[in-house]
Amino acid sequence: MTSSTRGQFTSRFGFIMAAAGSAVGLGNVWGFPTQTASNGGAAFLLIYLLMMALLAYPMLVAELTIGRFGQSNPIASLRKIWTKNKFLAVAFGSIAMLTASMILSFYAILAGWLIGFGAEPILQLIGLHSLADWLVTFSTGRNVFLTVLFMSLTVFVVRRGVADGIEKWSSRLMPLLFGLFLLLIIYILTQDGAMTGLKMYLIPDWSHVNAALVVNAMGQAFFSLSLGVGAMMVYGSYLKKDVNIPKTAGQVAIIDTGVAFSAGLLIMPAMFVARANGVQIFNEVGELISSGNLVFVVLPSLFDTMGFVGEFLSVAFFALMVIAALTSSIAMLEVPVACLHEEMNIKRDKAAMMLGGIILLCSTIIAANFGLLFDWVATASTMYMQPLLGVVWAVVIGWVWHRNALLQEIKQGHPEIETTWFWKIWPWYVKFVCPVAILTVFAYPFL
Ligand code: PFF
Repeated sequence: MTSSTRGQFTSRFGFIMAAAGSAVGLGNVWGFPTQTASNGGAAFLLIYLLMMALLAYPMLVAELTIGRFGQSNPIASLRKIWTKNKFLAVAFGSIAMLTASMILSFYAILAGWLIGFGAEPILQLIGLHSLADWLVTFSTGRNVFLTVLFMSLTVFVVRRGVADGIEKWSSRLMPLLFGLFLLLIIYILTQDGAMTGLKMYLIPDWSHVNAALVVNAMGQAFFSLSLGVGAMMVYGSYLKKDVNIPKTAGQVAIIDTGVAFSAGLLIMPAMFVARANGVQIFNEVGELISSGNLVFVVLPSLFDTMGFVGEFLSVAFFALMVIAALTSSIAMLEVPVACLHEEMNIKRDKAAMMLGGIILLCSTIIAANFGLLFDWVATASTMYMQPLLGVVWAVVIGWVWHRNALLQEIKQGHPEIETTWFWKIWPWYVKFVCPVAILTVFAYPFL
């Protein structure tokens, strides 16, 4: 397929919304606040911000640049750079594609729960009490039903392609997400108990800082920017040549960090408002009871204490979470869809349906063996595969790609880049520092 027949983002705004949409997801709205609450609040926040700037951002530039150069799916883009070893290009491109699919297979189950919790207050209101209760009670049937619903939404958007599907929906949904967030934050900050949470979030307690916290913060930053699995590579491939990649990547990273920060601003105070209302959030030794509780127990019980406003806030909050999850899941599905569509000449529409179906089958197997498989799939894909693939991309940029060819690619959107501090640091940094830092994340559990 030639680049002229491929889809492209029609505007820089559209691209930024789509890439930020991919980045902003359950990782920001759920993962980040949970990690922050369990790891000493502001201390985690500060280290996370450091990791974002020092590690995740440079790797985001790397992935977008590989994709933009290739103007194709991750397998083909890598093949274009790795001319001397096409086998490795195809192998690692395929592993990325598999990892994206694996993440989607467990992510869709979680995202399904969000649909259930969002629909529950509405169903209660119209008198469908037993259906409402079924949707918020753990069961295989419920999990599979909601996953089917969420995957159908994902396939619906991806089938339509880049400009018509991904860009259009992200440009609509992302601003809506920001608006809803702002409203909820303003509301929560007026409530009793909110200030305790705010203090914990913003005043660091350095006694919590240790090696594990640093590694967690690094992993969280990596997951949050959707790095490693080729999602940013494939979005980069739909980017026009005159776009300044370091600047655009910076904007995406800032939006992603901004949403994670806002999620903390909402959830940390909300925990303490819930506590003021009698909900137990910490155990006797002061640990967060469980990460799932934060979103699926603490928040709904908080909303419950607010009467009708709470019902409304609950629907708004879960709608917002579904939106965030959907703009991430479409990025995950886009990786294998682009590969199949371009490498095997299968129509996008058909590829999206087929892959959506296969991934849904995997989700169903995971849902049916939840206790056995869920944690395993989540840990293998996000904790091991994402960082490992990140190391490979850093090696591709630093050691495989000719520095001059890399410069020519980046220069197209930024002609004076050679004179900037960015160019003086970044290639060297990605070549040496990033692989070592990412390997530390990977190696940590074995140390
Ligand atoms: N960045 C997403 C989040 O924070 O929830 C997760 C994610 C999206 C991971 C897309 C990987 C991916 F390809």
